[in-house]
Amino acid sequence: MLKYANTQAVGFKNRVERVAIVGAGGTLGSHIATELLKTGKHTVTALSRKDSSNKLPSGVLVAPVDYNDESTIVAALEGQQFLIITMAPTAPRDSQSKLFQAASKAGVPYVMPNWYGGDIEDVKQGEDTLLGPGGKANRDEIETLGMQWTAMCCGFWYDYSLAGGEQRFGFDFDKRSLTIYDDGNTKISTSTLSQVGRAVAKVLSLKELPEDENDRSLTVSAFLQRGIYIKSFVICQNDIFESVKRVTGTTDADWAVSHESTQERYEDGQTLVKSGNMAGFSKQLYARGFFPDDPSDFSAKAQNELLGLPVESLDDSTKVGIALVKELQLRVERMAS
Ligand SMILES: NC(=O)c1ccc[n+]([C@@H]2O[C@H](COP(=O)([O-])OP(=O)(O)OC[C@H]3O[C@@H](n4cnc5c(N)ncnc54)[C@H](OP(=O)(O)O)[C@@H]3O)[C@@H](O)[C@H]2O)c1
Repeated sequence: MLKYANTQAVGFKNRVERVAIVGAGGTLGSHIATELLKTGKHTVTALSRKDSSNKLPSGVLVAPVDYNDESTIVAALEGQQFLIITMAPTAPRDSQSKLFQAASKAGVPYVMPNWYGGDIEDVKQGEDTLLGPGGKANRDEIETLGMQWTAMCCGFWYDYSLAGGEQRFGFDFDKRSLTIYDDGNTKISTSTLSQVGRAVAKVLSLKELPEDENDRSLTVSAFLQRGIYIKSFVICQNDIFESVKRVTGTTDADWAVSHESTQERYEDGQTLVKSGNMAGFSKQLYARGFFPDDPSDFSAKAQNELLGLPVESLDDSTKVGIALVKELQLRVERMAS
């Protein structure tokens, strides 16, 4: 593995200039691609299915790929220094493995695989939410293929989770209803989509390697084989509700509020998933995140200051979330048709 810049071949440029991204037109990938382009330090190439109708942010180069023809993926990845994968969780299970194998053949050294969720070091939470073992297997495969990985630990996306229906943060904006889990006071760490985009761009804009053993500056290599930890808000449902009421100009009287225990929601969701009904997946995932005795709060590990990430306004982010409601509903309809 590369260690110091001063031991690299003549002509080595100590920066990540060429970034490939899967999902550049997607929910998160569009934010990452946009923030990368804003730095002016990278070319951003989207690996996009050849029949995709997803719109890509302007300035992104397109490399059409066919997941049934590895040569198209290898060709798209040749010369790329960093592969970011933000792929729909509904994509066929072996899609990421196909990308890893092609990246290895193309000589890509670094991969950020699908994750963008909880703390990868919290094995229990990972097992309970059913996401941990798959994430670990992805990271292991990247290592086995001789590449290095980093994983984004950002918690639930604040704006997306607010907009994404009752199963997530409990809000249904069409019905103006809210399900409060337990007493609504359990705090979890969350990040906005734009904060995740900024964090990825900050890391990839660092020097790739320390110049030599005395160089203590922050580098991309400092984030390899481990998570990048960030946050926007450490927040409970009651705080979110207060923000929603401020932003929408509503009061308690406008909302139908009910209560449910996270334990019951978790068990219901798990039962559905185990019977093959993936409608239960988000329900069990978010319920587990809000368990009062073991919530998904890893804000103590957040590297916001190290990366120079901004402090965001809660109410502005709530507005962004509410504006996403319709878009996410249309997306679900598109995917179903
Ligand atoms: N922390 C959270 O709250 C949270 C919430 C949701 C998701 N996530 C995670 O974030 C990651 C990205 O999710 P996302 O919601 O941003 O993804 P997304 O927008 O649903 O999809 C991203 C891209 O995946 C590609 N894609 C879609 N269907 C595919 C298929 N059948 N085969 C191959 N590629 C396909 C599309 O790219 P092209 O059309 O260009 O090929 C699409 O733009 C996942 O790891 C997910 O688990 C986290």
